[in-house]
Amino acid sequence: MSPPASRPPVRELFAQRFGRPCAVVARAPGRVNLIGEHTDYNDGFVLPIALGQSTWVAAGPRSDGRMRAWSQSCEIEQTWPLDDWAADRPAPWTGYIAGVATLLRRRGVPLAGCDLAVVSDVPVGGGLSSSAALEVATALALSCVAGATLAPLELADLCRAAEHEFVGVPCGIMDQYASVLARADCALLIDCRARAWEHIPLKLGEYVILVVNSGVRHDLAAGVYAQRQRECRQAADLLRSLQPGVAGLRDVDAATVERHAGRLGTVCAARARHVTSENARTIAAAEALRRNDLETFGRLISASHASLRDDFEVSCVELDRLVEIVGNVPGVLGVRLTGAGFGGCIVALVPRGSVPAVEEAVRRQYDAEGYGPARVLVAHPGAGASIVEGRRVGNFGQ
Ligand code: GLA
Repeated sequence: MSPPASRPPVRELFAQRFGRPCAVVARAPGRVNLIGEHTDYNDGFVLPIALGQSTWVAAGPRSDGRMRAWSQSCEIEQTWPLDDWAADRPAPWTGYIAGVATLLRRRGVPLAGCDLAVVSDVPVGGGLSSSAALEVATALALSCVAGATLAPLELADLCRAAEHEFVGVPCGIMDQYASVLARADCALLIDCRARAWEHIPLKLGEYVILVVNSGVRHDLAAGVYAQRQRECRQAADLLRSLQPGVAGLRDVDAATVERHAGRLGTVCAARARHVTSENARTIAAAEALRRNDLETFGRLISASHASLRDDFEVSCVELDRLVEIVGNVPGVLGVRLTGAGFGGCIVALVPRGSVPAVEEAVRRQYDAEGYGPARVLVAHPGAGASIVEGRRVGNFGQ
């Protein structure tokens, strides 16, 4: 993967495509989660960073109640009635845009139609939140075109609701919050129950955050994601019946899970063990970052992988192999799968000078063994979404 591109010529592409200037350009980044996996929908803690890789949306208003979207990567233009996306059955990627437009209108935003040009360098299907980047950039562009201002959390919640309703993915809040709220050179600690967050400065010194895209995505990913949510709810329900006051797995500690492991059964006990230990690790990781203790941070990252593999069971052969290969490169402080699992990316804390050795090891082992090809990316912790041209230019994370 190449480093993040500087701003692409999205305004020029809009003008070429639609024969008029755009009114607004918005940008929203992808994200990589450092630690706190499968905890967001359990009311827990997550610690993502935004990437430099982003989605840019150029937009110009229409008044005829129609939406028209062109995506550079799909090389396709699609049109549909603003209030009836399903009727014209456009390509699935337009569901993110239609969802956001519909939910904005439901909130009373006076959108009367829009032309949109979409350009992105967030890898699609790699678990780096290309969906959230598209939703957030679209929501910012459409609200700006319609003269509305949404508060950051309203915007993030609306995007997540659009993904639930129009794309059918029951995601937690992490991706949209990270895309909206992130700040450059900081990790974003989110308390997903309180909807509170803290920017923690990243002082990585000689280290870099390395993302390696495994190049695989297993079909069962979506089904297993929903299944894990059900298992976590079941575990929380059982624990609530044994210990009043448990609203979710967030309210339970490791000792409680072990005390009730027999009643929970093997599967629910394992899922609860992951969520409770991952919450503790995420809080400890944030503390380690605050005192700049990268070795502890790295150990927690690696422990997270073991827990995701053994207790939450969302890893796969390819991710385990990548984690093993990268973890064996001298000097690497920690490595784990990141995102929902079953493919996508791993994230590692690597000495800057060892990046070529990691690339070489991945090529000679992972790729040569017939997996992949994997792609290596040095992550530059970037800023959250912003309107880069048009009214109300600005950045939420600042
Ligand atoms: C996906 C979801 C997130 C989160 C992660 C797992 O990326 O979109 O909300 O649940 O999986 O941590």
